[in-house]
Amino acid sequence: MWLEGWLDRAFGSRWNPMYHLGALGYFYFWVVVISGVYLYIFFDTGIPNAFKSVEYLTNEQWWLGGILRSLHRYASDALMVMMGLHIARLWAFDRCRGNRWFTWITGVPLIWLVFVAGVSGYWLVWDKLAQYVAIASTEWLDFLPIFGEPIARNFLSPKTLDSRFFTLLMFLHIAVPLIMLFLLWFHLQRINRAKVNPPRGLAIGTMAMLLVLSLVEPATSQGIADLSRVPFPVKLDWFYLWPFPLAERWGAAVLWGLAVGSTLLLAAIPWLPPQRKEATAVVDLDNCNGCTRCAEDCPYAAITMGPRTDGKPFERQAVVDPDLCVSCGICVGSCPTATPFRRATAPIPGIQLPALTVEELRSRVTVAAKGLAGNDRVLVFGCDHANKTDKLNGTGVATVGLPCAAMLPPSFIDYVLSRGLADGVAIAGCRDGECCFRFGVRWTEARLNGERDPHLRARVPRQRIARIWAAPTEWRRLESDLADFRARLRVMTEKEAAE
Ligand code: HEM
Ligand code: SF4
Ligand code: SF4
Repeated sequence: MWLEGWLDRAFGSRWNPMYHLGALGYFYFWVVVISGVYLYIFFDTGIPNAFKSVEYLTNEQWWLGGILRSLHRYASDALMVMMGLHIARLWAFDRCRGNRWFTWITGVPLIWLVFVAGVSGYWLVWDKLAQYVAIASTEWLDFLPIFGEPIARNFLSPKTLDSRFFTLLMFLHIAVPLIMLFLLWFHLQRINRAKVNPPRGLAIGTMAMLLVLSLVEPATSQGIADLSRVPFPVKLDWFYLWPFPLAERWGAAVLWGLAVGSTLLLAAIPWLPPQRKEATAVVDLDNCNGCTRCAEDCPYAAITMGPRTDGKPFERQAVVDPDLCVSCGICVGSCPTATPFRRATAPIPGIQLPALTVEELRSRVTVAAKGLAGNDRVLVFGCDHANKTDKLNGTGVATVGLPCAAMLPPSFIDYVLSRGLADGVAIAGCRDGECCFRFGVRWTEARLNGERDPHLRARVPRQRIARIWAAPTEWRRLESDLADFRARLRVMTEKEAAE
């Protein structure tokens, strides 16, 4: 969060690369695919043709083929960096548990596929590095008792190696990214409106960065492979090839142990303690008119609109899949029937969270507001995943916690201000880009700005509402923003009293 805060200052929250890691991964993937298609046109399979064709592209056609070769390499490296950061970030923010397990688990084989695609690419060049990689990786594979003849023997002398080997490798190098693409599609099955394209500025910036790198430090080969000599020394690509020196130092068995062990550990993360299983959203058909807003706003595609089953004169009804729901409550904030104003009957909306019903939320608001005093009374609706706002409770400030800021139906703000329960309402949630449930900040902003249903009614005085998006590392800013808001409220109240 500290790091992201610094990057926010450098790039602004819209272009902060940490908020677009998955989308950047897709972007690099496409750069690799497009540059790879061009390289493939000129690539010649066979010994020594493979090496010669890559040399032709690098030296004689440097102005396009050479640049594309470098782009192909550097975008692959960038994909690796992005993937490492993506995993680390999601783990650090604890976004792999509960019903997110599926997205996490479908990511794990992607790591292996990215490695296989990258390593097989280094073989194709058939230079000294390729020779090293070929021998090191086949020796590593030979540790498994699955091949009758050790495959590393193919590299004993030029006679033992034939050109069909390159055709096989080429097939692998193309097939693996295709499998990756399929798996990526799978990876995003449980993500609503997945961000697969980075913002334009970030795409242009990152592309320019790769281009400059390609021109300044073009990718080159390291002399043709010669199976009669030991390929030494070779310069390694430290993004993809770091496991090989480890295999050399520790042996194939240890590296297999590490690779399989860390894969299993990574795959087990969603089920490691502490486990949390919160009750998922439930639909109340008596109050659902099938308007589809909850389905549109749900970040995890947990709501579908099914045919009506209760005979009411509406076409559809919301249906929650409890295996997909992450209990964020965003659907409650989007439901037009979620309102605290109902007096005659209990305020039961079309959809709600059993752990914090709208009725319970209304009574928490009433209880919290009772303790408020002064002319700058603020009711803070705080997202529990952002900051522990209950620390703010005092004579002029009362807090009500929510699983996500976007769980708050805008009508609650109207309720608090029109009933005089407080002089102002503050909504405190995650820093923009860090929302635990992806769309909490975006949907809240859009609803308050009148860009997304349900709108905040026009009669609600906007100057009495504060939106504070702050990470736990920005607690001081949250406090000072709140203090500024209260100071503004005091001036407003005094002015109104004078009038
Ligand atoms: C080639 C590599 C990968 C790419 C291109 C990729 C891409 C993406 C994209 C585009 C999203 C949606 C982001 C959004 O719209 O909020 C996403 C989400 C996610 N990814 Fe990946 N991913 C990759 C690898 C992985 C790996 C290796 C893991 C974990 C082992 C992983 C775990 C997740 C999880 C848990 C989410 C859901 C995050 C959330 O609920 O907020 N991904 N990924
Ligand atoms: S609480 Fe609602 S919005 Fe959130 S995941 Fe569940 S169904 Fe979707
Ligand atoms: S937002 Fe409310 S009324 Fe609309 S479909 Fe969802 S549950 Fe039904």
